[in-house]
Amino acid sequence: MKKKATEIDAILDRYPGEPRYLISLLQDVQAEYNYIAPENMTLICDHVGVPLTQAWSVATFYKSFSLEPRGEHEIRVCCGTACHLKGSERLAQSLERDLGVERGHTTEDLRFSLDTVNCLGACALAPMVMIDDDYIGGATQRGIRKYLKKI
Ligand code: FES
Repeated sequence: MKKKATEIDAILDRYPGEPRYLISLLQDVQAEYNYIAPENMTLICDHVGVPLTQAWSVATFYKSFSLEPRGEHEIRVCCGTACHLKGSERLAQSLERDLGVERGHTTEDLRFSLDTVNCLGACALAPMVMIDDDYIGGATQRGIRKYLKKI
C-alpha cells in the first residue's frame, strides 16, 4: 500500500537535497506551520544534508524564524528610542502581566505572541504597537486592552 505523503514531505519535495536549500526549506516550514518544530528541523537537515547544529544557528540568527509555536495574533511593542521615551517599556510590561507571558513568547492557549522590536518606522506616532497587520500609534495600556478584547 502506498503511504500518503505528509505536508512536510510535500514541502521537502519542493527542493533538491542540497545544503543551499536549507534557508528556503526553513522559510517554507515557517510559513506553513508558523514555527519550526524540532522534528521538522531534523527532517530538513536529513533532506539537505546539513548538521542539526548548523540549521539551529541559522534558525536562531534570523528573527523571522520561530522555534516555538506562535500565537494566532502577533503583538509587537516598539522599544526603539522614540517609543521608549514615550513609555513603551511600561506598555510591554503591562502586556506581559495581562497576557501572563514574557516578551519573546506565546500564551499557553496560542492566542497571542508578544515581542518587542527596535523601530516600526513611525517614530512620530510613538509609542507604537503593532498587532497583526495594524499599526497603533500613540498606544496606551487602555487602548491596547480594548483592542485585544475586540479580537
Ligand atoms: S522608535 Fe518606535 S516607531 Fe520608531
